[in-house]
Amino acid sequence: MLITVSVNSSLDTAYIVPGLIVGETNRVKEKATVPGGKGNNVARVLRELGYHVVASGFAGGSRGAIIHRGLEELGVTTEFVWTAEESRTCLAVIDPVSEALTQVLEPGAPIASGELLRLKQKLGGLMGEYAAGAVGTGVPDAPLSGPYLILAGSLPPGVPPGFYAELVHSARSHGFHATLDASGEALRHGLSARPAVVKVNATEAAEALGTSGRRVDPLSLAEGLQAASGCLLAVVTAGREGAAAVGRLERADGDPSLISCFIKPPAVSPVVSTVGSGDAFLAGLVGELSTGRDVIEALKTATACGAANALTLTAATIRKSDVARLREGVRVA
Ligand SMILES: Nc1ncnc2c1ncn2[C@@H]1O[C@H](COP(=O)(O)OP(=O)(O)OP(=O)(O)O)[C@@H](O)[C@H]1O
Ligand SMILES: [Mg+2]
Repeated sequence: MLITVSVNSSLDTAYIVPGLIVGETNRVKEKATVPGGKGNNVARVLRELGYHVVASGFAGGSRGAIIHRGLEELGVTTEFVWTAEESRTCLAVIDPVSEALTQVLEPGAPIASGELLRLKQKLGGLMGEYAAGAVGTGVPDAPLSGPYLILAGSLPPGVPPGFYAELVHSARSHGFHATLDASGEALRHGLSARPAVVKVNATEAAEALGTSGRRVDPLSLAEGLQAASGCLLAVVTAGREGAAAVGRLERADGDPSLISCFIKPPAVSPVVSTVGSGDAFLAGLVGELSTGRDVIEALKTATACGAANALTLTAATIRKSDVARLREGVRVA
């Protein structure tokens, strides 16, 4: 079972504005809107890849209703807690002339303490129900197989920075792996709870490790994150350069199996928008890990998903045919 958590759901709009000039009146050439928030993004890509996925988190108002309907139409099962406040909007403006990407992100409306409690209870209920009916969900000798709670994205006001850490503990108590993609305080706290999988970009990793401002390569950052958190797999992505992965997996015979590699995507063209490539990457990774797939093979699929997302206008949207084609060009070093 795969459950995504979007505490800061958003209705994401992407505009193509050729030759954008800041401070002037600009006209939109093309526009697309999709349900967003990192958890919802991951859910959408998982569904596109053919997985059954439950999208949970918060949604509110008319935008919340559009997010809910949009996910359900794709075949994603939704289990949102409805908030008194309206879900936010995030805007990406893509200028194909300068190739500049400008993002304008609302922080999200405050979450009330009762709403927060209801979400914890809902997630506990969903995981508990699954755990009660599940027998032998993991694949022997595949320590990262089994059900996942996917924690991704920023925390809106009213959600304490330790929220993801709490959910990581809750996931573990229900036999779920937790995977974390966050930044700042939410990431730092979350790391201390030892999620099974950590996947962040190089900027987020450097900030969490206190190495911002220095040039540190993604592999060293992934090593640092794995050592600091004790997670089974730490992945640090670096845009079109690729991603570094460091793993320390306990095998059934008690010996750890060690992973340390860099995965490079093929060059893609035309790059339309890379917003959500990290979310697409996470979906490809977690989907395959959950089934017991070899970690390197899962990382290759993840890399192809991140690259496939670059070919589409809206965040975290992929075509399965692109993933299959691009996967052939992924290189592991
Ligand atoms: N231009 C690109 N060409 C090919 N692959 C790409 C490109 N950009 C990203 N990718 C793939 O997607 C992965 C994730 O991208 P990136 O590091 O930009 O994530 P991110 O910063 O978390 O993005 P977001 O938070 O918007 O989802 C990269 O490791 C890479 O494999
Ligand atoms: Mg990201």
